[in-house]
Formats: sequence, structure tokens, C-alpha cells
Amino acid sequence: MPSFIETQFPIARLSAESYKERKANNGQTLTHLGKWWGRKPLILVRAAIVGMLMPASNDAKKDRDIFLKILTMDDEGTWQRCKPAAQRMTNRTAFDALPYAQRLTDCERPENIEGPTATAWEAINAHLGTTATCLSELVRQLGQRTFGHTPRVGDSFCGGGSIPFEAARMGCEAFGSDLNPVAGLLTWASLNLLGGGQDVQEEVMRVQAEVLATADRQVTDWGIEHNAQGERADA
Ligand SMILES: C[S@@+](CC[C@H](N)C(=O)[O-])C[C@H]1O[C@@H](n2cnc3c(N)ncnc32)[C@H](O)[C@@H]1O
Repeated sequence: MPSFIETQFPIARLSAESYKERKANNGQTLTHLGKWWGRKPLILVRAAIVGMLMPASNDAKKDRDIFLKILTMDDEGTWQRCKPAAQRMTNRTAFDALPYAQRLTDCERPENIEGPTATAWEAINAHLGTTATCLSELVRQLGQRTFGHTPRVGDSFCGGGSIPFEAARMGCEAFGSDLNPVAGLLTWASLNLLGGGQDVQEEVMRVQAEVLATADRQVTDWGIEHNAQGERADA
């Protein structure tokens, strides 16, 4: 049985979502770990992995509807992502009539909401024969059915780490490597620092502050970044 991605892929909607993610600049999830020019949009990675795991049926239109539901990129999902202030300024009929990219102007990105609603999950499960209530559970069940285990995703040219990071966030076992050690470091950081949860992040910030204070004491002792009047350089 072919997978969804072998039969179709909603490029126009995904382009609009990828553009929105890129335009978020510092609001992008992985950007603060370090600059990486070729980093793939996370929504694109998510769509590709769902598209590879989801089997295609004989009903291409229904497959597309369900695929978009999983990604909260259907009409219901975009309305669900529409920010409350923007929802108050319009009504559902007018919102649905907007071109897709225009709808996204006032929407959260898919990665920043809980995921499909309970009603959407009912439709997804009815079509796919699953019992999931979240993306990682759906990924686990589809992987189990196709491979007999949780899907494993590896990127041997992982660059900024988008692919292993998003795969792990979706519940896959994720692996990454790269010839460039900076890429390896960034990918490691995405998985272990960003993916490590609040405790890890607070510990990193504590250690960073400690290192900064220690370095600052040393720089001050040596008189580096000071002029003859004892003034500090700003940058
Ligand atoms: C376009 S980037 C990858 C982007 C990444 N997949 C992402 O989504 O962000 C290509 C990467 O391939 C790496 N690369 C090139 N030749 C390689 C090789 N022979 N073995 C491993 N990595 C290699 C480069 O260092 C670079 O990080």
C-alpha cells in the first residue's frame, strides 16, 4: 500500500505555513540555539513524516482532508489556531473564504497549539483505524502497524537539526549526524537542551550566568575591555 506522500502532498498550504514559520524570525523554535542557514521549517518536517507514515486509501480527497486535520491545516484547524482577538473581528464563514496564506496572518503555528480537537481525532481515527488522541500516539500506532515498532528517523546530513528535533517531538526515535561539528552540536542541543524540558533549560541558564560572571570577574581583573579611566566597553 503506498503512503500518502507517494500519492499527493499539499504544497501550497505547506509553503504558506513554512513561510509563516520562517518569517517568525526569533520566534522560531530552534533559532536561539544558533544560526543555521539551511535549517528546514519544522512544519515541513512534520508534514513529511506524517505523509510517510499515513497509508493512502482509494479516496484521495478523504486522505487529503485527514492529512490536513492531523496537521491542523484544515478549515477547522486554522479556525482553531486563529487568535481570539482576530476571531472576534470576523466570523467563521468570512474566515474560511479567505485565501489560505491570508488566514494564517492571525493564526498560531501548528507547533504552538495542543493539536487537533477531540472531534478531529474522531474523524482521523475513523479513517485510519487508529485510537490516537495526540500526534505522538498516532505516530506510534502507524509505525507499529507498518514496521512493528515506533518509527526511527535518521538524518545523516542533519545540519541545524530540524529533522531529528521534529521527529523526536512527534514521538519517533530520532538520530542525527553531520560532517560539521557545529551542526552536530546544534542538533545535540535541540534534542537535549530544548527537548530536555524546563528543568534542563533552567540548569543551563544557571550555569551560563555562572560562567558569564566568572569570565567577567577575570576580564575585569585583567583590565581587558576597560580604558585608563576604568570604564567598561559596552560590546
Ligand atoms: C543542507 S544541510 C542539511 C540541512 C538539514 N537536513 C536541516 O534540515 O536543517 C547539509 C548538511 O550536510 C552536511 N554534509 C555535507 N557532506 C557531508 C558528508 N559527507 N557527511 C555528513 N554530512 C555532510 C553539511 O555539513 C550540512 O550540514
